[in-house]
Amino acid sequence: MKYLVTSALPYANGKLHVGHVAGAYLPADIFVRWLRLHQQDVIYICGTDEHGTPISISADKEGVSPAEIVKRYHDSIKGAFDALGIEFDNFSGTAREKHHKLSQQFFSALYGKGHIKPRVTRQFYCEHDRRFLPDRYVEGSCPRCQAPGARGDQCDACGQIYETTTLVNPICKICGNTPIIRETTHWYLQLDDFRQQLTGWIAGKGYWKENVRNFMLNLLEQGLVERPITRDLSWGVPVPLPETEGKVLYVWFDAPIGYISSTVEWAERIGQPERWKDYWLDPETKLVHFIGKDNIIFHALIWPAMLMGQEQGYCLPHDIPANEFMNLEGQKISTSHNWAIWVDEFTERFPAEYLRYYLACNAPERGDSDFSFKDFQQKINGELNNVLGNLANRVFAFAEKNFAGKIEPVALSGQGKEELAEANELYRQMDDGYRDYQVKKNSKLGMDLARLGNRWFDDRKPWARIKTDRAHVQETLYVCATLLRLVSVALYPIIPKSMNRLRAMLGLEAASAWEEPDLGHAYALNETQPLFAKIEDAAVEAELEALRNSSRQGKEEISYEQIKEQVSYDDFARLDLRVATILQAERVPKTDKLLHLKVDIGSEQRELVAGIAEYYQPEEVVGKQVLMLVNLEPRKIRGIESRGMILAVHSEGKLHLVIPQNPCSPGSTAK
Ligand code: 2FM
Ligand code: ZN
Repeated sequence: MKYLVTSALPYANGKLHVGHVAGAYLPADIFVRWLRLHQQDVIYICGTDEHGTPISISADKEGVSPAEIVKRYHDSIKGAFDALGIEFDNFSGTAREKHHKLSQQFFSALYGKGHIKPRVTRQFYCEHDRRFLPDRYVEGSCPRCQAPGARGDQCDACGQIYETTTLVNPICKICGNTPIIRETTHWYLQLDDFRQQLTGWIAGKGYWKENVRNFMLNLLEQGLVERPITRDLSWGVPVPLPETEGKVLYVWFDAPIGYISSTVEWAERIGQPERWKDYWLDPETKLVHFIGKDNIIFHALIWPAMLMGQEQGYCLPHDIPANEFMNLEGQKISTSHNWAIWVDEFTERFPAEYLRYYLACNAPERGDSDFSFKDFQQKINGELNNVLGNLANRVFAFAEKNFAGKIEPVALSGQGKEELAEANELYRQMDDGYRDYQVKKNSKLGMDLARLGNRWFDDRKPWARIKTDRAHVQETLYVCATLLRLVSVALYPIIPKSMNRLRAMLGLEAASAWEEPDLGHAYALNETQPLFAKIEDAAVEAELEALRNSSRQGKEEISYEQIKEQVSYDDFARLDLRVATILQAERVPKTDKLLHLKVDIGSEQRELVAGIAEYYQPEEVVGKQVLMLVNLEPRKIRGIESRGMILAVHSEGKLHLVIPQNPCSPGSTAK
């Protein structure tokens, strides 16, 4: 069996932060390490995504070339991966010539078969800058959810993709002026041509994660619309057609082709230039794309269609484990507001494996997760140190003191056999867990395995037995050493360096196989040392302080929404704003964002749905007084009739309810 594992190509326009790592990189690295322990034929491929408007915007802002930005962040990102022990077989970049050529071939093949068609379309154009404003060059309010800060290609708040020109109150990101609309020609991928093939392909993917499969089934049901795959820009892969000066391929068209061009680069680098074909041109290859949830549509729909439209017979994705997002201290990670933990800085202050362990414990597998420094400290001190480190310490110290560091195999008692049977069961469950990318569950099971050892050590009281029954103590130690060996394999994919250190102390070779839990190993301890060190409270406080300060510095980048069209006093007076007291609040099932509220507005009680659940817990808002628009047309949201809207302000990545300064009678009107 051949595996080709990829992680989403990170944009080369910023440093790597923990949210990236938790979603698309660490889980992939763990999976690959586990496959290697099973002697599977696997290559792990990545590189930087070097096109797209974020990069050219950064370059414009700094007055340097996009290539300079790309070089800077390619190196920075690669350095951060190295520090974290994320080991790719190849890490390329999409601005390289080979990638450009291959992307153009992809385009030409699809074009030649009629799967790409030109259309005259309407795009925002800035008369001041005399250029079109594709994707992130224009910003406004989302036409679907009204959130500010939505871009030409996508709204981050609701994840929707829409026709650019429907953006509300658009402004040019370069000069701040309102753009006009102009006609231009672009090329569209005819996704519907692949509908049947895609539907058949998806039918066999019952094993996919629910979020990905449902997303796809939904899209197929809604109907596949043609999608523009070119842009009016100078930075990118030139469109390989005559008279297309100033037009390049859309970044999302060329980016996934980077998985192939990076594999080609790998094959050349290892001196076997044809080797990439063994993976990409074998329909049996298990191609696994690790991504974040915002990339699902591109990997599960557009990319497979692009592959289907080629002649070579490329393998199609076997699985697309898409993870959710990681927040930071309860708030969305925001690079523009500097609300992020940067991997390069973090790994200078803490061992990289602490981060791997914590991100694995906290992997955003089924829902968004949260990075909290206090929790980080608790996991490192309370689990790595107090459970696993403690087991190793006590066993090593005892064996060194009483048996000159030698732990020999012994004939096991019934108890000993039971203990190891329990351990083997956990070890087996972890093997299954890795197969299903369950790193969160496995970090817990790994700790359970070590806990088993501590419990056994406590129950067997070797410190008391040593004087009277050395054989009893030998069995105690032998079982513990066996457990430590199992842990050293089972947690190796998550914390490889620490587990190899543990193995070295046990007198074992570095982990290279998912070992059989057989008996009969003899252990000769070797230069034992504490495996981990605790994190002091002061270190955590310092991190929190630094995070708050740096995010304050980031504030200057706030962009202001354009002031809306003037209204008359009469227009304003039509809005009936009143004080409401929140009586009850509960989460709307199966949503992250919505709270179902019951409020008192003096004359009556009302129910409504408010999009505040990401920022407020239900119990926090009960009893609060807020300002509410009470004559808003009722709307049904998730089956609940919502009668009114409470006011809130978005600022610095947080939401703040608008609350009267002093208690008021419910129903008092605001003017
Ligand atoms: O969302 C992102 O960060 C993109 N740069 C991911 C690209 S994945 C792939 F298709 F290249
Ligand atoms: Zn402009």
